[in-house]
Amino acid sequence: MWLIAAHWKENERFDIYHLFSLDHSTYFCVVWVVHRKINIVNNLQQKSNSQQSAVGIWLLIGVFMLLMQIVIGGVTRLTGSGLSITKWEIVTGTIPPIGEAEWQEAFDLYKASPQYAKINQGMEMGDFKFIFFWEYFHRLWARLMGFVFLFPFIYFLAKGYLRNKLALHLIGVVALAMVVASFGWIMVASGLVSRPYVNAYKLTLHLMLGISLFAYVFWLAINYLWPRDGIAKLQGLKGWSTGVIAVAVIQLILGGLMSGMKAGLFFPTWPDMNGAMLPDVLQDGSQWHLDAFKHYDTNAFAPAIVQFAHRGVAYILTALVLVFTVRAFKQQPVGPAKLGFTLLPVLLLVQVTLGIVTVFNSIGTIPVSWGVLHQAGGVLLLANLIFVRHFCLSKA
Ligand code: HEM
Repeated sequence: MWLIAAHWKENERFDIYHLFSLDHSTYFCVVWVVHRKINIVNNLQQKSNSQQSAVGIWLLIGVFMLLMQIVIGGVTRLTGSGLSITKWEIVTGTIPPIGEAEWQEAFDLYKASPQYAKINQGMEMGDFKFIFFWEYFHRLWARLMGFVFLFPFIYFLAKGYLRNKLALHLIGVVALAMVVASFGWIMVASGLVSRPYVNAYKLTLHLMLGISLFAYVFWLAINYLWPRDGIAKLQGLKGWSTGVIAVAVIQLILGGLMSGMKAGLFFPTWPDMNGAMLPDVLQDGSQWHLDAFKHYDTNAFAPAIVQFAHRGVAYILTALVLVFTVRAFKQQPVGPAKLGFTLLPVLLLVQVTLGIVTVFNSIGTIPVSWGVLHQAGGVLLLANLIFVRHFCLSKA
């Protein structure tokens, strides 16, 4: 419209034939074509925006479900439910026991396990159903994640919503998920032999593989939602972020060993460890041999050194994160980077506090709620570190 007005004003004369003369109709064609093109481009942009947000939301749902799976895993472990289902039936295990006969069968299978014989002798069916529920729910959530992942993945792939690189990464996610699940069963099987608990090292491996899967999908999601070439970056902090993440991963591994060895029960005091900064058993040279780690549940040495290291690395991580945050704020981060670096010291201090509260409450048993909060806090701290690293550049 403004085009016609401009043209009319210029010639002060306007008639219908003039309008449809050749040069005007070309004009209109051009205008029409340009207009159509703009529309097509707009439609394409809108379409790709909706495609992008569909994939972005799907990735974030995956991140949330994986975090929930780690929490459910923590509840399963801390309620002593992990060994209640003594078989791994990937498909038929989806259906829980129905009717008394099937429940009795499941209970009888559990009664044949070392855990029942050594710890839960005389357990009632009601208590068995409680521990069965948590292990069953942990496995069911894994199956559910499989569906929530696989069907949209096939759909997005078929629709061409996924760029090759992302599609390849997502195939990697599927492969890693299978490894996590397989090690879940290898861990359970380790508790069906003689020990009434799963093996601490296999538990830590399952936990770390689960955390790696979470970190991988989280990393894919933030790269997808905040492509690196479009964001403001902080100079000279990439090395720092990598170093802090490495120390955090060591701390998570030590945390897994803490829970696998129930090390919290041995020294439920803070800041000392039963009255000493360095427990007596660690000052006894005769205790320092590899066997102590192999038979970690028959001596206090392995739990003592694991808890001592877990506390020590927590203090080192605290110092590193505070220096890292100060260095970042010197560059006045903006937007998501600012949010990430503001949250980081807060999450760390919350995590350390949760750890101390968990230790204080580890009298006779590890408190389920504090233990699970502490586990989730560790995973969120790692996510925060991966997030801020996304905004860090190596070169100054
Ligand atoms: C940045 C610091 C810390 C991180 C990232 C961290 C991380 C973790 C993780 C991931 C676990 C394993 C949880 C599980 O498998 O359920 C764990 C367990 C544990 N941590 Fe920490 N932790 C930190 C600091 C501390 C501190 C300062 C203390 C106490 C002084 C502490 C005490 C414990 C205890 C008692 C457990 C065993 C809980 C259980 O058996 O479930 N943690 N930690």
